[in-house]
Amino acid sequence: MNKKTLNIEFSEHENIADGLPDNTAHLLALADDNLKNAYAPYSNFKVSSALQLENKKVILGTNQENAAYPSGLCAERVAIFSAKSQYPNQKVEKLVITTEQYREQPFSPCGACRQVIAEYEQQQKSPIEITLKAGNSKVWVFKSIGDLLPFSFDGDVLLKKG
Ligand code: THU
Repeated sequence: MNKKTLNIEFSEHENIADGLPDNTAHLLALADDNLKNAYAPYSNFKVSSALQLENKKVILGTNQENAAYPSGLCAERVAIFSAKSQYPNQKVEKLVITTEQYREQPFSPCGACRQVIAEYEQQQKSPIEITLKAGNSKVWVFKSIGDLLPFSFDGDVLLKKG
């Protein structure tokens, strides 16, 4: 038996002025500004996402809920599906997620969103920086979705079939 340990790495920043990577503070400001477009009448939990493509275009997304609850979609999936629908060949460099609600420790993305982000990171073969902030909380930056979803399912096995 071999006991193995995984190391998860992220950086914590006191606020958006505390040494964030290039342009990440700007993306957070855009996402915060767009929180008003979240449609969250059922949970009242507004989430907003902004992502930067390699061509530097910024795509926004907010959570969109539905009276038939499972029909709604999280902010980060709205953003990344929209980006890939418009610019399928552009790599995603950065993705930020903010919530209207404050919590000392940022909220982290749901498992389904992590899996969706992981799909595109695996496809593009370069890391997607993920940044999390809850209201004016501290900011957490992960250099790759791999640090939020280790051992994610990799579609390679399906593509190589037959
Ligand atoms: N939500 C997101 O938009 N992103 C997440 O990562 C977690 C949850 C949304 C979905 C739903 O509209 C509301 O937050 C409460 O779950």
